[in-house]
Amino acid sequence: MPGAFVVLEGGEGAGKSTQCRRLADALAARGHEVVVTREPGGTPTGEAIREVLLGSASQGMAARTEALLFAAARAEHAAALIRPAVARGAVVVSDRYLDSSVAYQGAARGLGEERIAELSLWATEGLVPDLTVVLDIDPSVGVRRAHDANRMEAEPRAFHEAVRGSFLRRAEAVPDRYLVLPADHPKDVLAARILDAVLALLPDEPSDATPAPVSTSQVLPPGASAPVGTGADARGGRTSADDAARGERA
Ligand SMILES: Nc1ncnc2c1ncn2[C@@H]1O[C@H](COP(=O)(O)OP(=O)(O)OP(=O)(O)O)[C@@H](O)[C@H]1O
Ligand SMILES: [Mg+2]
Repeated sequence: MPGAFVVLEGGEGAGKSTQCRRLADALAARGHEVVVTREPGGTPTGEAIREVLLGSASQGMAARTEALLFAAARAEHAAALIRPAVARGAVVVSDRYLDSSVAYQGAARGLGEERIAELSLWATEGLVPDLTVVLDIDPSVGVRRAHDANRMEAEPRAFHEAVRGSFLRRAEAVPDRYLVLPADHPKDVLAARILDAVLALLPDEPSDATPAPVSTSQVLPPGASAPVGTGADARGGRTSADDAARGERA
């Protein structure tokens, strides 16, 4: 029985990482195998690309180079991690995915939403999430909330509004694959709504289900320090995927 592929999307500080963790913990407590992952990243190749995208080499990188690197990381993510995990029955919870590229690079950076979507669909052989949760936030609130400053947070309001508009348009176009929630609602309320929506995708869990461990896709060795701004703190069996895919904002 295949599992499910669930993505948390939203602007800076919307609460994506918080809700990824909550969802993973809640599903695991019900006995589901959960894989928490993030973009860019999730595989050794993806994490290496993440280093390039978030490191000093990315300063001044051409927008198309960036778009292709994100797509390359996503191709590997889909082929090597997401598809196999879903096929064996796991629930994959990803902190950002394709819509972040569409929003940040397609809309906000002006490369074209359709073109960026097509690029990612080619890269992933058409892998789309069963459910994308969009945590919709007023950019001024989100940027204040986001704890570690990065270059995207310094972008003008119009940039973040473009990102927000893109997420909402994507959701509106395919409402049965999206759940849009106001990100300023209490964390517990949001977590309950998200869990309900995900459980509706899954077969009933056995009544005698025993809690399952949550695995993360992180490939950093235990104790390794995360590069500044990546928030790569989901290792050693923890459920966190904090600040995943920060580079999608590039
Ligand atoms: N519903 C909420 N209400 C109030 N504060 C929240 C809520 N959800 C998350 N927060 C807080 O906002 C901050 C950012 O949350 P989190 O890191 O989960 O967001 P994010 O979307 O992953 O951010 P980033 O874009 O930086 O990766 C954290 O301090 C978190 O505790
Ligand atoms: Mg985060």
